[in-house]
Amino acid sequence: MTGLYNIARPLLFALAPEASHSLTIRALKMGLSRFAPASRNPEILSTSVWGLPFSNPVGIAAGFDKNVEVPRALLRLGFGFAEVGTITPLPQPGNPSPRLFRLVEDQAIINRLGFNNRGLEAAAVRLEALNRHRRGPIGVNVGANRDSSDPIADYATVIRRLANLADYFVINVSSPNTPGLRDLQTASQLIQVVELAKGALAGGRSNRDDPPPPILVKVAPDLEEEEREQIARVASEVGIDGLIVANTTVWRPQGLESPNRNESGGLSGAPLFDLSTQVLFDLYRLTEGRIPIIGVGGISSGKDAYKKIRAGASLVQLYTALIFEGPRLVGRINEDLAALLSADGFGSVAEAVGADHNG
Ligand SMILES: Cc1cc2nc3c(=O)[nH]c(=O)nc-3n(C[C@H](O)[C@H](O)[C@H](O)COP(=O)(O)O)c2cc1C
Repeated sequence: MTGLYNIARPLLFALAPEASHSLTIRALKMGLSRFAPASRNPEILSTSVWGLPFSNPVGIAAGFDKNVEVPRALLRLGFGFAEVGTITPLPQPGNPSPRLFRLVEDQAIINRLGFNNRGLEAAAVRLEALNRHRRGPIGVNVGANRDSSDPIADYATVIRRLANLADYFVINVSSPNTPGLRDLQTASQLIQVVELAKGALAGGRSNRDDPPPPILVKVAPDLEEEEREQIARVASEVGIDGLIVANTTVWRPQGLESPNRNESGGLSGAPLFDLSTQVLFDLYRLTEGRIPIIGVGGISSGKDAYKKIRAGASLVQLYTALIFEGPRLVGRINEDLAALLSADGFGSVAEAVGADHNG
């Protein structure tokens, strides 16, 4: 697979970014992940969050598999969990192309896709067809349709329909590419979204004896201090089960070199690492470590994953680095992370969560 990606990378990078993504999804659907080296998950990486077992804490972030086409292939590549979506109630085409840009010099991507996806019913069919014996948890990231007259209700619609088909749900109120969406992060709106979603989840569940899947909220890295405080307060008031920190940023850091740096949309990858880790650190502190956080933004090494964990992440995710480094990256991150944990005397991921807050 290493060799294969080394050959494939120049071809993929010669294509327009979206064509290259479609080709990658097609290859994974055709079973290319079977050629991946069997991933060894050192015991030290196995962890449990929300009562769910993870063989390692490194997941594929939302946006890679928007239509639930390849979650099992992604788990086979070595990810400890997969998040599909964003899924909206109705299918929608997203924004006009071009809408996805490589910033090669900066190891970054700018996207303004705008929740292009085949909609809730198509996702339900695919989730139903997935083998129950999964290699790892599969989460569903939920959004609102661009033209929705009631965006808050959209989250509840998706969660009710998929209530029995997801290991966790993510309320995505942080994509910069759907006008008005990020306003749902304000306290009064977020409370409504979460309460309605919780009601929908309870209403949609067929087996009330099992614990319900947790509901997480994914936030933007562009939150001001006061907004971070509000989110922490809402999280404990309404009982948000977890946070994902963070989505892409509308900020453009100084020093970006790529000619594409001024495209509008959300920036991801290496330049997002420090900002998203700082917001993660703050939200862990503000929630006093009581709410599990998934740390995402600019991870491209075991060292990066370890930093997020020490800042307060119970699990981590990545997307952009996979584009630049290929599938071998996942195993490498896991190996290096295991070594870093051991070197510092930690016996598990959980022991290291929030370590940078002590002392
Ligand atoms: C092409 C692309 C599409 C994305 N689509 C979504 C999406 O549909 N929903 C979502 O919550 N995040 C989406 N994201 C954001 C990622 O899930 C992640 O939060 C962000 O890219 C930061 O991680 P990274 O630096 O490892 O890529 C997308 C990111 C990229 C690059």
